[in-house]
Amino acid sequence: MISLLLTLFFSACNALDLPTADSTSAGYCPVYEYNVARYDNLPFWEGAYNPVPPFYYGLSYSTFQVDRDDGFIRAISGNQATMAFGGSGNISIPDSASKQTFDLHRFYYACVAGIPQPECAVSMWGFKPDGSIVRRVLTFPSLWSGIYPWEFYMNATEFGAEWQGLKSVGFSIARRDNGGDMYGGLLLDDVEYSITTAC
Ligand SMILES: *[C@@H]1O[C@H](CO)[C@@H](O)[C@H](O)[C@H]1NC(C)=O
Ligand SMILES: *[C@@H]1O[C@H](CO)[C@@H](O)[C@H](O)[C@H]1NC(C)=O
Repeated sequence: MISLLLTLFFSACNALDLPTADSTSAGYCPVYEYNVARYDNLPFWEGAYNPVPPFYYGLSYSTFQVDRDDGFIRAISGNQATMAFGGSGNISIPDSASKQTFDLHRFYYACVAGIPQPECAVSMWGFKPDGSIVRRVLTFPSLWSGIYPWEFYMNATEFGAEWQGLKSVGFSIARRDNGGDMYGGLLLDDVEYSITTAC
């Protein structure tokens, strides 16, 4: 009976292809780790500097902070999201993790500049290990009516095959109409990605 249970246990592990501590030495590589960064489990102090801590689900954030709902645009999950207050920032594989890259799958985003705010262009750059760069520009609509709370929503977007094998993703926001300053931040939530650790 015990041996049957053990057999079932190990075959279940194999079927799920779970990344185990010795999976690389056992030949189970590359290792893929799927993550959704929701930011809800991170500490937040009102009025303080709340950086997303290093290696949060395997990635490093520059300029992005933890942000809590304030009645304007609701987070997708829980009551927290991440905000680059000046509108630009990076999300990267840490320098120490040379064997890793990540595939960006999907996230929710909003430009946060208050009411009214003009149509916003979110420029994105994906940096790959070979030095190549992929680029995309997202649009977040202008917000005019101003009957909030909770009138406005983050928008969703998905990423295709060209956004795989990344070292870093950079973001910057600007007015869509004339490229001018938005005087606002970039809010992201439920960032879905997979980290690949090569053999
Ligand atoms: C983002 O990364 C690029 C390339 O590493 C760097 O030049 C840029 O300064 C970074 N931007 C921020 C806001 O950290
Ligand atoms: C995008 O965001 C705007 C502003 O909050 C909202 O009105 C619109 O419904 C959103 N669109 C989608 C498809 O989520």
